[in-house]
Amino acid sequence: MKTELAVALDFPTREQAEDFLARLKNLSAADQKRVVLKVGLELFLATGADWVRSLIANGYRVFLDLKFHDIPNTVVGAALQAGRMGADFFTLHLSGGGPMMQKVKAALDQAVSEKEFAKRPRVLGVSVLTSFSEKDFAAVYSGKGVSDAVRDWVSLGQASGVDGIVCSPHEVAQVKSQFPSLFTVVPGIRPSGSDAGDQARVMTPKDASKAGADLIVVGRPITQAKDPVAVIQSILGEL
Ligand code: C5P
Repeated sequence: MKTELAVALDFPTREQAEDFLARLKNLSAADQKRVVLKVGLELFLATGADWVRSLIANGYRVFLDLKFHDIPNTVVGAALQAGRMGADFFTLHLSGGGPMMQKVKAALDQAVSEKEFAKRPRVLGVSVLTSFSEKDFAAVYSGKGVSDAVRDWVSLGQASGVDGIVCSPHEVAQVKSQFPSLFTVVPGIRPSGSDAGDQARVMTPKDASKAGADLIVVGRPITQAKDPVAVIQSILGEL
C-alpha cells in the first residue's frame, strides 16, 4: 500500500486554518484526495466539532488527534462520536488499558454492523509520548523503562484490537516486522533540507515510507512553508 500524508493543522485559530486550507485548493484533485487533515486539541478547541464536520462534508479525510484517555465507558462514547462525525482516524492512549481498547473495538464494530455509521474510523494507539525522558517516565510508571513500555503497550494494543499505532520513524521498521497487520502512523518527518525544529529524531518522507510507514504526519514543514502546495507535491512525489 502506498504511504499516505497527513498534514498536522496545528493552528491556534479557525481563520489561520481556513487561510491555509484555501491555499490547498491549488492542489490537483488527485493530490487533494491523498491528503489527510490532522486536527489536534488546539485547533479542535478553537473551532469545535461542527467545523470538523464541515471539513468532512467538503470531502476531506480527517484524523482526529485528541488522544482519548479515560474510563472505558467514556472513551467508548468519544469513539462513537468520532465515528458519527465521519473521522477516518482517531487516537487513544494505549496506557488506557486492554478493557478500554477491547470495548472501543466492540462498540465500533457493532455501530458499523447496525449501520449507525458507514465508515469505521481506524483506532490509533499512542504509546509513550516522545517528550518523556527515562527519568520522568520512571517516576510516573514505577521505574519502568521507555522501550519496555513501548514494546509491552504496543503488544497489548494489538491484542486488544487497535488498528494501528503512532510511532517514531526509527521504530516503524521494528513495529512492522513484529506486528505486520498494525497500521503505522509516523510523525517526526522532515523533507530533506527542511528545519528539524524541536523534533529530535527525524527522517525524510521517502525513508519513512521505505521503513514501512503507512501514514506520515507532517506539520510545520508544510504549514509554515512559503509555498505549501509545492512542499506537499514534492512529498507526495517521494511516497
Ligand atoms: O510540525 P511537525 O511536523 O513537527 O508536527 C508533527 C505533528 O505530529 C504534531 O501535530 C505533533 O503533535 C505530532 N506528534 C509528534 N510526535 C509524537 C506524536 C505526535 O510530533 N510522538
